Amino acid sequence: MSAEIIDGKAFAQSVRKRVTEQVATLKERYSLTPGLAVVLVGEDPASQVYVKNKNKSTIEAGMKSEEIRLPKTASQSEVLDVVARLNSDPSIHGILVQLPLPAQVDEMAVLDAIDPAKDVDGFHVINTGRQAVGLPAMVPCTPLGCLMMLKDRLGDLSGLNAVVVGRSNIVGKPMASLLLKESCTVTIAHSKTKDLPAVCRRADILVAAVGRPEMIRGDWIKPGATVVDVGINRMEGENGKTRLVGDVCFKEAVDIAQAITPVPGGVGPMTIACLLANTVTAACRIAGVEEPAH
Ligand code: GUN
Repeated sequence: MSAEIIDGKAFAQSVRKRVTEQVATLKERYSLTPGLAVVLVGEDPASQVYVKNKNKSTIEAGMKSEEIRLPKTASQSEVLDVVARLNSDPSIHGILVQLPLPAQVDEMAVLDAIDPAKDVDGFHVINTGRQAVGLPAMVPCTPLGCLMMLKDRLGDLSGLNAVVVGRSNIVGKPMASLLLKESCTVTIAHSKTKDLPAVCRRADILVAAVGRPEMIRGDWIKPGATVVDVGINRMEGENGKTRLVGDVCFKEAVDIAQAITPVPGGVGPMTIACLLANTVTAACRIAGVEEPAH
């Protein structure tokens, strides 16, 4: 039987519609316009595309959008100066510094300088810690989007075996933490995991976030599992054109899983939708007004 393909694009559209309505309400009730600033250092082509899409989506949702571009030679103190200015700008409620940063800039120092209240990426250690102990926190957008899709599809996740392949700070670790909060039995697997296929085969929920094209094969998947593929990898196709593939071999997995997110059109669109939702949350918390439910 072929798996249900989880339509992340349609799901993201429904989240964005809700965010747009919430922004309109905040403007009307409190004269509050949520503002998001995105900082791009250098000219990495993939980052430029992300930043352009973020800017466009922010404006479409009725929010203020500020895009700050610095040259790839920018020093750490130049980046920190921009962050300090945005921290004290009352019209900005969310700050996102696009990663990766050039080698001369210390990524952790920059993330640490962002006001945790404006940290819509949820990468600041304060937010990581708050989330880990169950306090209100800004939650990283990609894992948040994955969780929303999983809950929409499966309802109560309690007691399910969840395997997260990948231990990055951006996806793997926060994803595991969110699934634990939902009372899943969580395993974080990574490059040193022994017998990774056997570990994956135990998963009712399999989240792939390793950044290796099509590494997870069909026979690693438990029949009936729900598979969320966070990977976005460029591969040369037979016709010489590049195509996007995930970390899961989709054409094998689709015959085994019960549901699977495609690449593209799965997790990707949800990340931006959650960024907009996080900006609304941050604006409400900063302004001290009631937060909308997402
Ligand atoms: N680079 C790739 N994904 C992300 C993300 O979610 N946030 C930031 N800041 N940079 C990224």
